Amino acid sequence: MQEVLNHVESHKDHYLSQLKEFLAIPSVSSQSTHNADTRRCAEWVANEMRTIGMQNVQIFETPGHPIVYSEWLGAPGKPTVLFYGHYDVQPVDPVNLWTSPPFEATIRDGNLYARGSADDKGQVFIHFKAIEAYMKNIGRLPVNIKMLIEGEEEVGSVNLENFVKEHKDLLKADLVLISDSSMFAKGIPSVCYGLRGLAYMEVEVIGPNTDLHSGSFGGSIHNPIQALSEIIASLHDKNGRVTVKGFYDDVRPLTKAERAAFKKLPWNDKKYAKELGVKQLYGEKGYTTLERRWARPTLECNGIWGGYTGEGAKTVLPAKAFAKISMRIVPDQSSKKIARLFERHIKSVAPKTVQVIVRELHGGEPAITPIDSPEVQAAVAALQKGFGKKPLYQREGGSIPIVVQFKKLLGLDTVLLGFGLPDENAHAPDEHLNLDNFFGGIRTSVHFYNELPNYWK
Ligand code: BES
Ligand code: ZN
Repeated sequence: MQEVLNHVESHKDHYLSQLKEFLAIPSVSSQSTHNADTRRCAEWVANEMRTIGMQNVQIFETPGHPIVYSEWLGAPGKPTVLFYGHYDVQPVDPVNLWTSPPFEATIRDGNLYARGSADDKGQVFIHFKAIEAYMKNIGRLPVNIKMLIEGEEEVGSVNLENFVKEHKDLLKADLVLISDSSMFAKGIPSVCYGLRGLAYMEVEVIGPNTDLHSGSFGGSIHNPIQALSEIIASLHDKNGRVTVKGFYDDVRPLTKAERAAFKKLPWNDKKYAKELGVKQLYGEKGYTTLERRWARPTLECNGIWGGYTGEGAKTVLPAKAFAKISMRIVPDQSSKKIARLFERHIKSVAPKTVQVIVRELHGGEPAITPIDSPEVQAAVAALQKGFGKKPLYQREGGSIPIVVQFKKLLGLDTVLLGFGLPDENAHAPDEHLNLDNFFGGIRTSVHFYNELPNYWK
C-alpha cells in the first residue's frame, strides 16, 4: 500500500499535465459541431485505459456518442466494482465570462480551471491514476474493476439504458462506484446517498405568422412573450410551491430522523446567501435550504427567449417565444408522469389567443442508495484515510440518471464518492477542481479499492 501511495505522491506534476490533455478535448455532448471532438475524447479515454493496464478495452458505438468499456478481472474471489463516469461536458457559453479559456486548463490559487475539471473528467481521471498506481507498483488491483465511461450523461444518458440492457453479462458486478458529485464543503468529505431526478421541458408559444411592427400592431394581439410570461408566472404560488396539479402526489415525505440529520450538518443560510451574491434565499415555504435542495421537488426556468435581444432598441412584436423549464424530482415521483402533468397544466392555462406547444427533452429518475452497506462503510474508511477526516452523509440536488437503471437492470447499489465542491461552478463559467481534493481523491480511491474486500463478507 505504502509504495502505491508513494507513487501517487511522486507523480503529482505528471498527473496534472496528463489531465490537462484530457480537459483540452471539447467533448460537448449537446452540440453536434463537437461530435468529432467527443469521439476523439472517447478514443483518449480508451487509450488511457490501455496505458494504465486495463484490459478488454472497447469503444461501443451508440446512436449518439460512444461508450468506453474496459475491465481488469485478475482478483478471483474479490468483489467486482463497476466504475461509472462520463467524458462529456456541458457547453461553455457564455465563453466571455471565463477568466481563462475553458479548454486550456489553468491553475490559479490551488484550483484547476477548465470545463470538465470537476464534472466529470477530473473525477474520472482520479480513478485512472489510482488504478495506474497499483498496476505500476504491484502489478495488480485489490479488487476486480469494470469501467464504463459514457459520452451522453449531460444530455440525459439517452442511449446508456439500452446498452446496459444489452450487456448485462458484460456489466455483471457487485456494486457501482461513481465519482461525479461533491463533498459537503472544503475539508468536509462526505458520502452521498441521494440524487434528484429530472424532467426537462421546452415550451413554445406561437402568436402571429410573422414578427410585427410594435406600433402598427401593438394593442391588437397577445404578445407571445407576455403570454409565455403569464404561463410561467402561473407555475408557482406565493409560498414557492409548484402549482402543477398532482405535482406533489408521489413525493415521499422526509422522515423525522432525516430532517434531524440534515439539521445537524454544519450549515449557515446567511453565509450561503452571501456566497451566492443574493439578497435573500428563496424557496418552498416550510422547508430548510438543504431540504429544498436535496429532498424536495422544484420547477425552474432554465432559459427564455424571443423577440429582439441585440444591441439597442428594435420596436417589434415577436411571432414566437420560448422557454426551457426543468423540474427536479424526488422519490417516488416519476419523470414521465411529471412531464405529463406539466403538459396538462400548461395546456390548461394557455390563453386562447396563442398556440402553445410543449415538448419533453429528456428526463431521469431520482435515486436513494442504502448507507448501511459494506461498500459504503468501505467508502467511509477510505475517505477517513484519504482526507484525514470522518465523512458525513448527505444527499444532492443534481441527477445521475443511470443510477436507478443500475439497480433495476443489474440489481446493483451505487456508492457516490464525490470529490468536487458545491461552489466549483459545474455547468457555469470558470468551472474548477480544487487540487487538494484532486490528490485527496486519488489517495481515497487507492484506499477504497484496498478496503473494499475487508468489508465485503
Ligand atoms: N455531476 C452531475 C450530477 C450532480 C450534480 C451530482 C450535482 C451531484 C451534485 C452530472 O454530470 C449532471 O450535471 N447531471 C445532469 C443530468 C441531467 C442532464 C439529466 C444534471 O443534474 O443536470
Ligand atoms: Zn457530471
